[in-house]
Amino acid sequence: MHYDAVNRTFDCDPTLTDTQVLEFCREGHLFLPGVVSDEINQRTCDYLNGKIPANPCFMPEGFTTEDLERIRYTHEPSSILLEDWYIEHVLLNPQLAGVLRSLLGKQVGLPVLVSNHRIECPEEPQNWHHDADHVFGPELDFVEVFYFPQDTPKEMGPTDVVPGSHIRPTTPKPDEEGLASAGPAGSIGIHSQSILHRRGKSTATGVRHMLKYSYWRTTPPERDWIIEPDFDFRTADYGGHGSARYYAHMFYWLCGKGKEFRVIGGQGWPWKTKNQIGPSYGFGATEGYLPNWRRDNPDDYAL
Ligand SMILES: [Fe+2]
Repeated sequence: MHYDAVNRTFDCDPTLTDTQVLEFCREGHLFLPGVVSDEINQRTCDYLNGKIPANPCFMPEGFTTEDLERIRYTHEPSSILLEDWYIEHVLLNPQLAGVLRSLLGKQVGLPVLVSNHRIECPEEPQNWHHDADHVFGPELDFVEVFYFPQDTPKEMGPTDVVPGSHIRPTTPKPDEEGLASAGPAGSIGIHSQSILHRRGKSTATGVRHMLKYSYWRTTPPERDWIIEPDFDFRTADYGGHGSARYYAHMFYWLCGKGKEFRVIGGQGWPWKTKNQIGPSYGFGATEGYLPNWRRDNPDDYAL
């Protein structure tokens, strides 16, 4: 792990393989249960509840000690990003860092803003939503991270996500349950910021904190995660009708090959089914179409 405290970036070895990076492109989220220690989870709750003194490692330009103390008790307690213990054990958590390095390249940019989604349980669920200012596109220039510093079983209203919903506006079914990010204290979720999600219904009693922030790409995308020697771009699993071309475009963009990506449509690559007797036609086409991320024409292809 190399942490650059001046530029607030880090670098480390990537931990995801080709298959896992493509899985993130298809699913739009990834979950690391209980990766932060109980001691740090407790210290995080104590910090947010004002039970321990602040000890910022530097004073950001234009800020005073009073400013930091004020924002510590708002819904955006970004001052926690300046605590050495939080940087070392949460922001640079080894399991999290390896995933972020895989998805965002070298010199990953650290967050500058924290949102604390603090809730007194029990509480009704939030409405399903895509977060503000989301972009639907093949680019992955940032990812959102959710950190739960206390045990967050289903009864404490963990975040629900709809896997694969990060590529287009989604109308959830009235009874949509999604996938709950339930887990022990110290669990971390990593999401495409465009994914459909909500805070789930809680039935237990107590305070639930959830700290949310974004990590940022600072270098152009390239395929520099763990390469699988037998990974085959032609036969990989990109998903089904109407969505495979979007997930494949995202994967190609992450490989640094977004500009080369073209599809010919129909049952052509990247779509496939296990019952076909040969690989899909259309792989490697230099002419063809792009997925229409803006979805402003009837067939959802763009030139
Ligand atoms: Fe949200």
